[in-house]
Amino acid sequence: MGVLDGNVAVVAGGTGSVGEGIVRSFLREGAEVVVPCRSEQKRERLVSYVQDVAGDRLHLYPAIVSDEESVRDFRTAVIDNFPRVDLAVASLGGWYYGHSLHRMTFDDWNRVMHDHLTTHFLFLRAFVSLFHDHQNQTGTYVMINGGESKIPAPDSGVVSIAAAAQKMMSKVLAEESSGTNIRSYSISIMNPVKTRNRGGNYLDEWISAEQLGRYLVELQARKVPRTDQVSHILRTVSDLKVAGVAL
Ligand SMILES: NC(=O)c1ccc[n+]([C@@H]2O[C@H](COP(=O)([O-])OP(=O)(O)OC[C@H]3O[C@@H](n4cnc5c(N)ncnc54)[C@H](OP(=O)(O)O)[C@@H]3O)[C@@H](O)[C@H]2O)c1
Repeated sequence: MGVLDGNVAVVAGGTGSVGEGIVRSFLREGAEVVVPCRSEQKRERLVSYVQDVAGDRLHLYPAIVSDEESVRDFRTAVIDNFPRVDLAVASLGGWYYGHSLHRMTFDDWNRVMHDHLTTHFLFLRAFVSLFHDHQNQTGTYVMINGGESKIPAPDSGVVSIAAAAQKMMSKVLAEESSGTNIRSYSISIMNPVKTRNRGGNYLDEWISAEQLGRYLVELQARKVPRTDQVSHILRTVSDLKVAGVAL
């Protein structure tokens, strides 16, 4: 028996270096996992990474989360193929290196705001509205971000601005869901994550992408502390041990 047996989870960014670990953990625990995917190469990479745990429970749909029409079509496909969505995770990445705010071009500003904020808005709107439409008004929405939401990143500052706004999105969502069974979480990982694409270049104390996924599984099951709080900050594997997550 898996902790997520019978759950349907949608993971935006599930083809990414953090997202693929989350997908793997959810599959291991029995969930049906739905991932929007915009690249054939990334699709194949994810399928091969999780093939030992997926059974027939990984569902990939061609979709671009940053495009309004594409997200709408993706939402419709999910509604048509699944009875409901229990859990939606946004593990959307990308970075901006280059210029301090006062030298940044308008095009760069707009692009980063679109990729880091508008994309989150589109995904959130699509799936949180489903939670509200559910007869029990239920569902869990999780946004993943990093230390840049708390610590200003010089010459990449726009990423910090967007990440701080992402955290506020989670809080607004929680307020707007009060009186329902809908839960909203912002998970900030303050160190780099141990991902496949790092090869052996990591510190043992860093949390791996799959361990982060396990934390989310326990969060969904309300087995970690502070499940009534929106913001969860994770630094090292010690934090997971303290929270009682099996490593
Ligand atoms: N990696 C770390 O060490 C680390 C540490 C702390 C926190 N985090 C947080 O973890 C989250 C995910 O980061 P990551 O390292 O996994 O990033 P990543 O490897 O770049 O993966 C990001 C994922 O998001 C998708 N994506 C990004 N922008 C998109 C857009 N505009 N439209 C559609 N899809 C888009 C990507 O799709 P494609 O695959 O098609 O590009 C990919 O699946 C971020 O919030 C980051 O701050 C990461």
